[in-house]
Amino acid sequence: MGIALIITLFAAVFGVTSGGQTVQEAGGIRALLLILGPMAVGAVIGVIKAKKVEMTGMPELIAMLHSFVGLAAVLVGWNSFYAGAEGGHHGIHMGEVFAGVFIGAVTFTGSIVAYLKLSAKMKSAPLVLPGRHIVNLGIIVAFFVMLVIFARMPPTGHVSCGSLLLGIMTVLALFLGWHLVASIGGGDMPVVVSMLNSYSGWAAAAAGFMLNNDLLIITGALVGSSGAYLSYIMCRAMNRSFISVIAGGFGSDGGVVGEAKDYGEHRETNAVEVADLLKNAHEVVITPGYGMATAQAQYAVADLTSKLRARGVNVRFGIHPVAGRLPGHMNVLLAEAKVPYDIVLEMDEINDDLPSTDVVLVIGANDTVNPAAQDDPSSPIAGMPVLEVWKAHEVIVFKRSMNTGYAGVQNPLFFKENSAMLFGDAKDRVEDIVKAL
Ligand code: TAP
Repeated sequence: MGIALIITLFAAVFGVTSGGQTVQEAGGIRALLLILGPMAVGAVIGVIKAKKVEMTGMPELIAMLHSFVGLAAVLVGWNSFYAGAEGGHHGIHMGEVFAGVFIGAVTFTGSIVAYLKLSAKMKSAPLVLPGRHIVNLGIIVAFFVMLVIFARMPPTGHVSCGSLLLGIMTVLALFLGWHLVASIGGGDMPVVVSMLNSYSGWAAAAAGFMLNNDLLIITGALVGSSGAYLSYIMCRAMNRSFISVIAGGFGSDGGVVGEAKDYGEHRETNAVEVADLLKNAHEVVITPGYGMATAQAQYAVADLTSKLRARGVNVRFGIHPVAGRLPGHMNVLLAEAKVPYDIVLEMDEINDDLPSTDVVLVIGANDTVNPAAQDDPSSPIAGMPVLEVWKAHEVIVFKRSMNTGYAGVQNPLFFKENSAMLFGDAKDRVEDIVKAL
């Protein structure tokens, strides 16, 4: 990107000639100021925002940044439409403009809805409009029909009719982006974030086609395809179909979010009791979740781990693929606290060992250890693979209250006979246990 920026500035200031022909006129110092001015404003806002953001606020920041890429593609598209094509490829250029604006607009509103949902400014429950799949399909068919008409319009005298078509399509695409993400339920948001990541890459690539800019096409395609692959991995982790993710609203056929089922009584414990339990254990598994990130408990957890290992206890970590709010969120935190990599295992690697585990410490995790995903077909998280912590001899759950997790569903794990709740901030409670040890 550094090379791209330097070359862009150089070309704008000194111009570019190729084969004796002027490709871009020299803009001199005025062009330099026109580019550097807005860049400086953007850079200052970006640096301030990025410095202020908490690790827990990363997903919504990323979603907001995706929306900028989408908006940029829409603006480039409209500008490129009015500027017209260079050379004799009018039809192809118009096709690129139409597709670019479409992808950009879907990315723009989709990312805004994702931002609102992730930052809890909009309810995370799925929006279920009647005939929503027909509406989505109708918009996509309309897009292809209008694309053909738009691309076949003659180069002259097309502007007002073309503007109308492009305008209608932009509004439809803005609606589609909003609708696709609004229809997706809370627990399935991780897939949406990586999907929008992919869309933003395609939007950038589309802008590259419109501007005849190879570098933008290449970087956009890189982001687009790696984002698509990440979405595929996330879909596998969540046991969802990739196609239904792209169609939107795939997570919304589940049960009632926040239902008030009676699971019975829960048991409470304290740090001293947990320390005693750990002293007598041979096999301990720690399953961290979003609460470890909010409490910033990773250092205390690393400390507890090394204390237990020094006593000869075999401590390992079980990481769910969507624990936290970012892919790899828990791995990053544990690496930061210098927990050795070889004891940090993925869900599939640890699940079979849980029945022979003496104690599982569930540190700020909720949805990722919820047995309802397996036992209750009406649950919004039904079908999602989970860490089967309830199969261990003892389970200690660190959280502040009986509140639900991200998906808004109660967790029957908390009411099982072999589970005990250790209430309070996860960092404080882990430190208490370290002291008691
Ligand atoms: P969650 O289900 O989000 O539950 C986290 C729990 O941590 C909450 O129940 C909360 O309970 C507790 N907690 C919060 N602050 C705490 C603190 N300071 N000390 C102790 N406990 C605290 O966590 P999870 O199991 O990691 O699941 C992740 C969820 O996020 C999944 O539903 C997933 O689909 C979704 N999601 C994931 C991603 C990615 S890519 N990983 C992106 C978006 C969404 P209290 O309030 O009672 O303390």
